[in-house]
Amino acid sequence: MAIQDCRLIELPQVHDQRGNLTFVEGGRHVPFDIQRAYYLYDVPAGSHRGGHAHRGLYQLLIAMSGSFDITLDDGFENKKFHLARPHYGLLITPMVWREMDNFSGGSVCMVLASAHYDEADYYRDYDQFCAAARAAAP
Ligand code: TYD
Repeated sequence: MAIQDCRLIELPQVHDQRGNLTFVEGGRHVPFDIQRAYYLYDVPAGSHRGGHAHRGLYQLLIAMSGSFDITLDDGFENKKFHLARPHYGLLITPMVWREMDNFSGGSVCMVLASAHYDEADYYRDYDQFCAAARAAAP
């Protein structure tokens, strides 16, 4: 997996006079079955989150409210995204390091994930991650 496989996904929107509705279906709008949802909120100004990669997990990150930046790194190149609308999600594939910052006040990041929480799936050391990513490269 590499950074080219990570992308913004535009999600369906249903508009009417009562407001907007967006939905996400596992296997249809995201290329995985959704096993877990979690969310980041009350993030203090200036905070950084992320700082890890996953061995096998797929995730979709959505700015449910407010905005933030995400920098992806596959051990070879970097790519930066700004999430600011709840009908866009950023797909992050396995073996991609992510850093999140520039959270606006009141922002909420929801993450849909392909598996239950498993600490053994994390790389939390950047050098170890890079060595593994480079060793796995074709
Ligand atoms: P972490 O994934 O490091 O958060 P972030 O990517 O936002 O910086 O998780 C922070 C803590 O929360 C860590 O102790 C693990 C715990 N955690 C769970 O118990 N379950 C979960 O589903 C997640 C995502 C984290």
